[in-house]
Amino acid sequence: MELRIDRLTKQYGSKIAVDRLSATLTPGVYGLLGANGAGKTTLMRLICDIQSATTGTVYFDNQDIREAGEMYRNCLGYLPQNFGYYPEFTAYKFLLYMAALKGIPKMTAKTKTLELLKTVGLLEEKNKKIKTFSGGMKRRLGIAQAMLNDPQILILDEPTAGLDPKERVKFRNLISSFSQDKIVILSTHIVSDIEYIADWIFVMKDGKFVHQGTVEEITGEIDGYVWECDVDRRTADKMIAEYNVGNIKNRGEDVVLRIVSKEKPIAGAVQTEPTLEDLYLFYFDEEGEQDGRVVSI
Ligand SMILES: Nc1ncnc2c1ncn2[C@@H]1O[C@H](COP(=O)(O)OP(=O)(O)O)[C@@H](O)[C@H]1O
Ligand SMILES: [Mg+2]
Repeated sequence: MELRIDRLTKQYGSKIAVDRLSATLTPGVYGLLGANGAGKTTLMRLICDIQSATTGTVYFDNQDIREAGEMYRNCLGYLPQNFGYYPEFTAYKFLLYMAALKGIPKMTAKTKTLELLKTVGLLEEKNKKIKTFSGGMKRRLGIAQAMLNDPQILILDEPTAGLDPKERVKFRNLISSFSQDKIVILSTHIVSDIEYIADWIFVMKDGKFVHQGTVEEITGEIDGYVWECDVDRRTADKMIAEYNVGNIKNRGEDVVLRIVSKEKPIAGAVQTEPTLEDLYLFYFDEEGEQDGRVVSI
């Protein structure tokens, strides 16, 4: 199975939201990481054939998705960024309704719905109204909805927005268990959401992939640039103003700073392993677009 995008471009007036992107995706989990406005949603909508590209093509197993039409859409599961949830529906009724919209036969739909409710951990809540659900429960229901047709390609737009830390862990496990032999693409602006589950990361900015690779590969670009130093408070204040500081921890009277910098920031600073978050900080701060202390972009 292969999904290939070829010089895909989407232009809105003078704004180029997706700028000649090319990539070949085989089964695995792909993370699309980028700030608001980077073009993640537009790219996903193009891949889902919800929007048409200005130029360029998406191929599924070497067939143009516009020609594949229904056949392609049947292989696709999509969780839009702003998903409507029908607050008065119960989880169970909602999934049955979505299954009907997708043309899934009634008997199959019932079995599938119950199976998915179990998978996403909502079986016990199946008869509760969606309006009583937490953000995390709604997201999990949204993922279940996207999986109703056993999609080979699952596209989740900001699926972890509004989840608490516990729900994030559940979500990661859910994606990992589901992703075998499938292409999963998920977008986020939060580094830690994809650091552990994505096999491949596309860092997106202004409609382009500015970095891509495995977490190890792309963090390798800043090997030797990440430092930890233990300083007093006054020094810390100065350094915070001057450097990309990713993390600040108090240690007794002192402060431990995690700094991303090409040069050693201060005598006594010790080099440490870069993380994806450090990479982010490095590239987005250097260009003067981000506040160095913000962990998400
Ligand atoms: N329908 C639209 N009309 C005009 N501009 C749009 C439209 N949709 C998105 N854009 C613009 O395209 C860029 C990318 O948006 P989007 O794909 O939503 O990014 P992201 O999902 O990464 O936040 C933004 O500058 C946005 O304002
Ligand atoms: Mg978006």
